Amino acid sequence: MTHLTDQDRRSLIDLAVEASRRAYAPYSNYLVGAALRTKSGRIFTGCNIENAAYPTGMCAERVAIFKAVSEGERQFEVMAVATSNGGTPCGSCRQVMAEFGLDTVILVSDAQGRLQQETTVADLLPGAFTPKDMGK
Ligand code: THU
Repeated sequence: MTHLTDQDRRSLIDLAVEASRRAYAPYSNYLVGAALRTKSGRIFTGCNIENAAYPTGMCAERVAIFKAVSEGERQFEVMAVATSNGGTPCGSCRQVMAEFGLDTVILVSDAQGRLQQETTVADLLPGAFTPKDMGK
């Protein structure tokens, strides 16, 4: 069980809001930032990165997760996600989160850094298809 202090929440949400300012989102103008803390204590941030060829863009959450995995980290504790209006992670991001653990805590905040929702991957994606389903 992940125990989070108010300071943990505050600093991760602040990092997510800061990352959202680096979003490249000229098409939607919907800025998203993420800050992912691994079980080893490292923090990886991400922002959404859009493209003139729309489907080529990538969500902030997956940027953060892919950065972490590409740096050798696969065990996650908590991820803060900051969106313009407190919107929650999309289905594709939920699926990618589920690959690396259903217990990861997800903090959703708005662009002002106000916590809107504290939940887990399991709650965001009930009945997830996971590595277990592939015999892993
Ligand atoms: N977006 C994210 O970065 N994360 C989400 O979970 C929801 C959507 C991005 C994708 C696109 O750049 C913009 O927000 C509008 O959909």
